[in-house]
Amino acid sequence: VPAITDAVIPVAGLGTRLLPATRSQPKEMLPLVDKPVVQYVVEELVAAGITRVLFVTGRRKRAIEDHFDADPELERAVGAAAGSSLGVEVLYTRQPRPAGLGDALARAASFAAGRPVVVALGDSLIEPANGAGPGVVHRLIDAYELGGAGAAIAVNEVASELVPRYGIAVPRAPTATSAGPFELASVVEKPRADAVSSRWAVMARYVLGPGVFEALAQIGPDDSGEVQLADALKLVLAAGERVLAVPLAPGERRHDIGSIESYCATFLRYALTDPRFGPQLRAQAVALLNGT
Ligand code: UTP
Repeated sequence: VPAITDAVIPVAGLGTRLLPATRSQPKEMLPLVDKPVVQYVVEELVAAGITRVLFVTGRRKRAIEDHFDADPELERAVGAAAGSSLGVEVLYTRQPRPAGLGDALARAASFAAGRPVVVALGDSLIEPANGAGPGVVHRLIDAYELGGAGAAIAVNEVASELVPRYGIAVPRAPTATSAGPFELASVVEKPRADAVSSRWAVMARYVLGPGVFEALAQIGPDDSGEVQLADALKLVLAAGERVLAVPLAPGERRHDIGSIESYCATFLRYALTDPRFGPQLRAQAVALLNGT
């Protein structure tokens, strides 16, 4: 089976929860220590064997294109420290209106061209487990290919009070565990906690097969006016394709930087654990916490 080497990163959302920081700057370009969030995402994909990336962008997102472009002036001034090249081919398309994740992904159909692609949300990082085996994107690709699936979705169990904030993956069998991939019966976007029995939340990484793109072309917006990926996945399941859930490994963590609280918490974590700046910053944090 040929490995999956193409990925789509949707970055066309408005980022309203991070205003005013995101008035003229994409949330995906906010830094964590010395790198913008979206660079961590691209590096994660490259580590999983991805060689070609399509960004689905929109207005106010041009800084992302500049970031992944060559910059001869910077390169003359500081050489490799300019950090332009990540060894991946980058393409761009635009979503004219932020009409939902499903609508953004539908714009990647001709890029996918009937082959499966990885999808990674540009505002979410997967922090790898310490010294662990293959990361979640690698495991998603394996699950998709070995499982003969129509799609594979990264999931993690969340507390029941957090269920309404996520897409929730409902297992086919009640015996699903974090030990390995399991089959899904349904995916429900941001349900009421009492409306689903599952606490498996969708975690910003997917492999989507051609059936998902066919489904996206058929469905329309929901009551809120957004085209939902969950609705396309339901159609794929109804057509008899398998959709697999791949649990995050122990120690693997998803950080969504889409709110002020989560961005600040993620920045703190990355800064305090940075091998270069962490030790000094920890000492400063301790002094601050002790009021000295
Ligand atoms: P979010 O649900 O976090 O929404 O999108 P948002 O619009 O970016 O942010 P807020 O709610 O206004 O603060 C999840 C992912 O889907 C992309 C976003 O860029 C993000 O990576 N997205 C969302 C699109 O590309 N297009 C859309 O229409 C919606």
